[in-house]
Amino acid sequence: MKRLATLLALSLAIGGAQAQHVMTVDVTQPTAEIQPTMYGVFFEDINFGADGGLYAELVKNRSFEFPQPFVGWVPFGNVTIQDADPAFPRNPHYVRVVNDGRLLRAGLDNEGYRGMGFKAGEKYRFSVYARTPDARPLKLSVEMVRSNAENPVKKEIEISGKDWKKYTVVLESNFTDAHSRLRVVLLTEGTVDMDHISLFPVNTWKGRENGLRADLEQALYDLNPGVLRFPGGCIIEGNSLATRYQWKNSVGPVENRPLNENRWNYTFKHKAFPDYFQSYGLGFFEFFQLSEDIGAEPLPVISCGLSCQYESHEVVPLDELQPYVQDALDLIEFANGDATTTWGKVRADMGHPEPFNLKMIAVGNEQWDKVYVERLEVFVKAIRKKYPDMKIIGSSGPRCDGKEFDYLWPEMKRVGVDLVDEHYYMEPKWFQDNAARYDSYDRKGPKVFAGEYAAHDYTTNKDNNWLAALSEAAFMTGLERNADVVHLATYAPLFAHVDAWQWNPDLIWFDNLKMMRTPNYYVQQLYGMNAGTDVLKLTMDGKAVTGQDGLYASSVLDSRTGEIVVKLVNLAGKSACVTVNFSGLKKKQQIVSGTCTYMQSDDLKQKNTLEEGEMLAPHVRPVDVEASSLDLTLAPYSFGVYRLQVR
Ligand code: AHR
Repeated sequence: MKRLATLLALSLAIGGAQAQHVMTVDVTQPTAEIQPTMYGVFFEDINFGADGGLYAELVKNRSFEFPQPFVGWVPFGNVTIQDADPAFPRNPHYVRVVNDGRLLRAGLDNEGYRGMGFKAGEKYRFSVYARTPDARPLKLSVEMVRSNAENPVKKEIEISGKDWKKYTVVLESNFTDAHSRLRVVLLTEGTVDMDHISLFPVNTWKGRENGLRADLEQALYDLNPGVLRFPGGCIIEGNSLATRYQWKNSVGPVENRPLNENRWNYTFKHKAFPDYFQSYGLGFFEFFQLSEDIGAEPLPVISCGLSCQYESHEVVPLDELQPYVQDALDLIEFANGDATTTWGKVRADMGHPEPFNLKMIAVGNEQWDKVYVERLEVFVKAIRKKYPDMKIIGSSGPRCDGKEFDYLWPEMKRVGVDLVDEHYYMEPKWFQDNAARYDSYDRKGPKVFAGEYAAHDYTTNKDNNWLAALSEAAFMTGLERNADVVHLATYAPLFAHVDAWQWNPDLIWFDNLKMMRTPNYYVQQLYGMNAGTDVLKLTMDGKAVTGQDGLYASSVLDSRTGEIVVKLVNLAGKSACVTVNFSGLKKKQQIVSGTCTYMQSDDLKQKNTLEEGEMLAPHVRPVDVEASSLDLTLAPYSFGVYRLQVR
C-alpha cells in the first residue's frame, strides 16, 4: 500500500530521537452514536454578556427603573423622575424634561455600557415613548456624541399630544468611537415626558429591532453549536429568591418587562458592578429564537425554589413550591404549545406561531444537598406527568467530586433524571489528567451534561491561553470517546466585556466595537465543526490514548459525508511521530484526501487580544493521501483535526 508522509509539524522535534507511536482506528464498528447536541454553548448574563453585550441595546437604564433612577444618565437643566400615569405599568418611572426658557436647553446624556460604540457609516435607530401637556409641538434633538464631544451627529424629532406615542429616528454615524454617548435635548420651551429611551444599531443579527449584536451572534453561529443552555448559571438562582430569573418577566412587549437585579453586580468585592441589572430585553423568546438562529437545541434552566446556596440560601418550603413548578410547566407550554394555549399564544403573539420544539429542561443550577433533591423530585413528577417525553436535567453540585457530588449522583439515579449536569473549573493539569474520567461511568444511568467547564491557569491570572485551550482539547478527546455517556458539553462562561467582567476565563471577549475569539473558542469550534455522528475506536498499544507521552486522541465517523475524523493532541514540548492505521477498511477502500485543521504554539502562555488580534487561530491545509494509514509528525503543543475521505 502506498503511503505518503503527512506532516502536521510546524517545527521539528526539540532534541533526541523520537519514539514511534502507532495508533489504530477501527473503522468496522462504531462504538457509540454521537448526539447532535454534543458540543454547545452556555449563555449567562455575566461579564455584561447580555445587557452591554449580546443584546444590542446601547442605552443603559432606558426605563429609569434602576433603584437610583438616574444611574447611567447625566441630566442637565430641569429634569425629574415621575411615575404618574406611566406608559408601562411594570416599568412605571419616566423622565420629565422642562425647558423653562431660562436655561438655553434641558435634556440628558446616557453613558451606555462603559460608553457606546459607534462606527462610521453605520446606522443607529433611536426610539422613545413621549408625550407633552403643551398645546404646540416640541422639538427634541437626538445626538450621538463622541468622547471628545466634538461635532455630534444630530437629528430632530417633533413631539406632540398628551398621549404616550412611540417616536423613531435613524442616525448615521460619521465617526468611530467605542466610548461615545447619547444626548437628548429639549430644544423648544415646554415640557416633555419620555420613557424607554432606546438606541440600537440597525445592523443587528438578521436586522431585527430589539436584536442582538451581529458580530457576537455570528461568533456563536460559527461554533456550529448543538445546544444552547440559558439563561444561567447562578443568575437563575439569584442572590435571593426575589432576584432569581423569572422567565415570565422576560417575555411580552419589551417595554413592559420589569427590571431585575443581576446576581453578578456585587458578588466579587474586588469587582463590584453596582450598575449591573437585567433589562430582560434579551428574554426567553429571544433565547429560543437565538437557539433557532444558530441551529442549537434550546436548553432552559429554571429555578428549583432555592436561591444561591453560596449566598442567601433561601429555601421555598415544599408546600409553597407549586408556583415554581407551574413556571416550569408553563415554560414548556410557552415553547411548544399551540396558539390556543395560554402560553403558546404569548409566543405566537410575539411573532413565532410555530413551536420552538423544546426537548430538554434543567431544574436548578449548582444545587446540592437533600434540600435540592426533595424539590427536584416534585418537579420531575409534575413534568413527567404532563410531558413524559421531556428530558430532565439534574445537578451534581458545584464541583466535579467530593461530598456533594458523591451524594448527588446516586440521588440523580434514584430520582430518574435523564442527564446530570457536571461543572468543573479546574487547573489545566486536571484536564490533562482526566481524559479517562468517563471511561468508568455507569452506562445504564443518566447521561452526562458537562454543563460548565474551563481550564483555569492560576499561574497567569486565569488567562485564556494556549495551555488552557490545549488542555481542554486533550480532555475533550475523552468526552468524545465516551459519547455514549456524555451527551452535551458546554464551556463557561461565554462572553466578557473587557471593561466590565467579573469572571475569567471566558470564551469570547469584546468591547463596544469589536470582539475577539480566544484559543479556547477555536478548540470548541474544532470540536463543534467536526463532531461526527459515531465514535470509532482508537487505540495505542491496545489502550485509549489518554495522555501517554503527552498524547491524546479520538476518532469519529461522519456518516453524512462518509469521512473519518481523527483528533490528535500533543501536549508534550517535543514533536511526536505517530502512525495512524485504519483497520477494517474494505478491500479497495483507501483514504484518498482530506484536510488537516490545526492549532499550534510553542508558547503555552500565548493568548489572543483585542488589540493585537487573533494570533492563535486554526490553519487549514490539504492532506493528500492514498493509503490505509497516515504517518504524522505532531508538533509540540499542537492540536490537529484530520478530516479524511475514504473511497
Ligand atoms: O459560569 C460562571 C458561574 O459558575 C455560573 O453562573 C455558575 O453556575 C458557576 O458557579
